[in-house]
Amino acid sequence: MTVQQQIDTYLDEQAGLETLRFITCGSVDDGKSTLIGRMLYESQMILDDQLSELEQTSSKIGTQGEKIDFALLVDGLSAEREQGITIDVAYRYFATDQRKFIVADTPGHEQYTRNMVTGASTADVAVILVDARKGILEQTRRHSFIASLLGIRHVVLAVNKMDLVDFDQATYDAIVAEYQELSGRFSFESVTPIPVSALGGDNVVSRSANTGWYQGPTLLGFLGAVDTRKALVNHGFRMPVQWVNRPNLDFRGYAGSIVAGTVKTGDEVRILPSGETAAVDKIILGTSELQYAEADQAVTLTLDREVDISRGDVLVAAKDPCETSDQFEAKLVWMAKDSGYHGRTYWLKMGAATVNATISEIRHTYNINTFEEAMGRSLELNDISVVKLAIDRPVAFETFADCPPMGSFVLIDRQTHQTVAAGTIDFALRRADNVHRQAVTVDKKARAEQNGHAGRVLWFTGLSGSGKSTIANALEIKLHNRGFRTYILDGDNVRLGLNRDLGFTDADRVENIRRIAEVAKLMVDAGLIVMTAFISPFRAERQMAREMFEEGEFVEIFVDTPLEVAEERDPKGLYRKARRGELPNFTGIDSPYEVPKDPEFRLETDTASSKLLTEDLLQNLNFTIDD
Ligand code: ADX
Repeated sequence: MTVQQQIDTYLDEQAGLETLRFITCGSVDDGKSTLIGRMLYESQMILDDQLSELEQTSSKIGTQGEKIDFALLVDGLSAEREQGITIDVAYRYFATDQRKFIVADTPGHEQYTRNMVTGASTADVAVILVDARKGILEQTRRHSFIASLLGIRHVVLAVNKMDLVDFDQATYDAIVAEYQELSGRFSFESVTPIPVSALGGDNVVSRSANTGWYQGPTLLGFLGAVDTRKALVNHGFRMPVQWVNRPNLDFRGYAGSIVAGTVKTGDEVRILPSGETAAVDKIILGTSELQYAEADQAVTLTLDREVDISRGDVLVAAKDPCETSDQFEAKLVWMAKDSGYHGRTYWLKMGAATVNATISEIRHTYNINTFEEAMGRSLELNDISVVKLAIDRPVAFETFADCPPMGSFVLIDRQTHQTVAAGTIDFALRRADNVHRQAVTVDKKARAEQNGHAGRVLWFTGLSGSGKSTIANALEIKLHNRGFRTYILDGDNVRLGLNRDLGFTDADRVENIRRIAEVAKLMVDAGLIVMTAFISPFRAERQMAREMFEEGEFVEIFVDTPLEVAEERDPKGLYRKARRGELPNFTGIDSPYEVPKDPEFRLETDTASSKLLTEDLLQNLNFTIDD
């Protein structure tokens, strides 16, 4: 039997005990592994054979003072658990007579914020470790901020390595005072400081004789007793629909977890965002039927009427519904190495719904040390920021403060499918309600009829000097001569006017393309064939532009010129300048170009003349004009 299997067996025996989930956070070398090892050890989870092995290893490497190096114990477990699988967060299990415990052990380095967020998202308590010799560090602030952001209500400040400061009360008191000032900014329900020595076991399980001045609980004593009931039973009924269960024509059930409130058969529910109502007919749990269910139960409901419900909709109490909106102000913890940009679109996953969300504004990013608000145009790894998000359709939500499960979400990169941020909703923005699209009588169709052709956008993309403008220009002459109404939006020209305020940072390029796409959309609406000639280096923005148009309106043309060839041509001498280091962020040199995966056309300018390519393009586009 592996250690894990033995632990599982033990836990099975303890079944029935309430489970407390907690997370330990600390900087490197704060003694986290030692503390977790100590808790596992003290709770009798270490099996005899493993113990003796540890004693041998510890003595071999000459651990001083103690017979056992507890950190080794945890690292050993970790190695075993990680065999063959990558786990970002190592979950460890132990139990006492009072409770079962699941502890999320997350690495302390700054780059592991993602893991802390993962571990914290399900935790009831955060144990924040500080080294008594070092006091409160930036990591302590960051971890506390994230814990509060993710709705952890109880914090233990474990002031560790008290043995190394001679169990000095004044040192401890000073750290506690500083932390209390810090934690006052957050909405924790309790903050419990405890002086400990993980190495010596002081105040971990039993009260230490070395800290006669300390009257509070021991760490395990606190964890065993803290009240963590958090199921939101006294709240309006909320159930995001995970899937519609339709095994045959006679049965249609809506399955999901109740995240808040209670439900009885006969209750009226409202389906959001549509707003339709129906009464609950049956509540099914496994193979049995219930009269009543409450938060934290996963059930299937049937309704008394046929209503249109799909995955991602939310069933709520008809008389106590929540809001729907398509714009929010939210806090984000950015967890990806790739920066986040104002104007970029991500998938937003909330409950069972996945929608497109654009960061419409980066309001500010917090400085973790001073909590001052700093402006920025991008979101970087570990940033905690306030942003505005615009969603492509309304979703049912609540603020995170009112109902955490209805107010938290993640953002996912649409290209890499990586989770890039965790977020919480502060409030909905109402602006959307007050701005209405104006109906006009002369519409796109009428203009197309008058022109004899529909509007289109021909989106040229490629390196600087690839030939985008040259080909767009040649094509425009031909289309114009045949009577088409055309317009060219060109990088250099637009940057002299509309986009004069933008440079060449990634954030500025994202905004450049967003504005161009909006302008192109208006022009297509006006009935023009628009040719855009911008590097448009990022797939995300080209995809965003495409999605703004109707099927068939957007034609992506990749002017595929190898860097060496573009650099050789160097029509404006910019590559030479960039190579000399005089032009930072130059595409292809020190700023990326993401090659289109699926463009409608790919033009290889190094093997064919632009004249030929233009002819070819004209033929393949197959545009016709009505008389
Ligand atoms: S984009 O990346 O935001 O799409 P855009 O097409 O508008 O770029 O502008 C590119 C043109 O600006 C280039 O053809 C070149 O003439 C000029 N330019 C000046 N600095 C840079 C730079 N750092 N990177 C790329 N192009 C630059």
